[in-house]
Amino acid sequence: MTLTALTPEEAVSDQFHEPVMARQVLEFLQPSGNGAYLDATVGGGGHTRRILEACGSCTVVAVDRDARALSEAGGSLDDLAYRIQFIEGSFDAVSQTLLKDDAGSFAGALLDLGVSSHQLDEDGRGFAFRRGVALDMRMSGDADDAPTAADLLNEADVDRLRTIFREYGEEPRAARLAREVLRRRDRRPFATSDDLVAALSVALDRAPSQRDKARIFQAVRIAVNGELEALELALPRIRDLLSDGGTLVVISYHSLEDRAVKLAFREWSASCICPPRLPVCACRGRALGRTLTRRPLRPMGTEVAANPRSRSARLRAWTKVEAA
Ligand SMILES: C[S@@+](CC[C@H](N)C(=O)[O-])C[C@H]1O[C@@H](n2cnc3c(N)ncnc32)[C@H](O)[C@@H]1O
Repeated sequence: MTLTALTPEEAVSDQFHEPVMARQVLEFLQPSGNGAYLDATVGGGGHTRRILEACGSCTVVAVDRDARALSEAGGSLDDLAYRIQFIEGSFDAVSQTLLKDDAGSFAGALLDLGVSSHQLDEDGRGFAFRRGVALDMRMSGDADDAPTAADLLNEADVDRLRTIFREYGEEPRAARLAREVLRRRDRRPFATSDDLVAALSVALDRAPSQRDKARIFQAVRIAVNGELEALELALPRIRDLLSDGGTLVVISYHSLEDRAVKLAFREWSASCICPPRLPVCACRGRALGRTLTRRPLRPMGTEVAANPRSRSARLRAWTKVEAA
C-alpha cells in the first residue's frame, strides 16, 4: 500500500489553478445536452467550471462541506452561477437528501476527495503542519461543534489513536506514538501542531522528516472528518443518483480511499455478489454497470511538475449500465 501526503512546500507551491486531472475527468464525463452533473467536492470550483464551459446547456449541483470554499467558489464561478446550485453539507448527507427527488437524474458525478490547496494554505485551519498552528482540521470549519484535532488527541483512547496512526498514517511506530500522546496530554493538553510534532519526534527517536509529519497530520485529518466513513456512505447514494449511462468519476489521494472506490466499483460491476457457498444466486443477479478504468489513472509527469498536489492522485471511473 503506498501512501502520499503533501509536505508544506508542496501545499504552498500549489498556486496552479488547473484542477487535478481535468482532461481525464472531462473525457469520462463527456458533458453534453441538458445534462445535470453533481460536483460533490466543488472546492475552488475548477472542475465545475470545466464541465460548464464544455457544455453550454449543462447544469451543476455543487456541494462542499466547507462554507468558506463554497462562498469562494460562488465568487469565482459568478459568470456561470445561473447554471449552478450550491449546497453546503457533507456529500454523504447531501446525496441522501437529493435521492428523494433526483434519483436517476444526473448524467455524471465527480468526487475529488481530500482537502483543497486553499484549505492547506489557511493557517487557522491547521491542516498542514506549519509551526505553532492550532490543531483544528475540521473541513466544516467552526460552523458546528464537531471535535477538533486537538479534541481527538486529548480524548481518544490509546487503541483508537494507535489505529489512526497505523491505518490512516501507515506509521510503523503507531503504538509508541499513541502512548506518547497519552503521556504528554496528562501533563498539558495538545493545542498546536508543535505538540503533535514533539510527540512524533519522541516516538521516532529522531527529528521527523516532512513526509513523516505529512503522513501523521493527514491521518489525524482523516479521522477528525470521518472521511472514509463519509465516502463509503456516499458512493452507493451517488450511484443511485446517476441516470442510465451516467458516469461517476472519483479522484482519491489516499490508498484507503482508492481501495474503497475500487471495491465499490468491483461489486457494482459484478453480476452475482452472493457468497461462493450459496448453491443458487439469491442476489440482484445482474451487474449495475461497468468499470471504465481497469487500473487507476495517474496524472502525467507534466501535470505533477506543474502541480505537486496532483502527485498522489488516482482516478477511477464507472458507468451505470443502460437499461435493456
Ligand atoms: C481537492 S478539493 C476539490 C477541488 C475542486 N475539484 C476544484 O476543482 O477546485 C476537495 C474539496 O472537497 C471538500 N470535501 C471533502 N470531503 C467532503 C465531504 N465529505 N463532503 C463535501 N465536501 C467535502 C473539501 O472541503 C474540499 O473543498
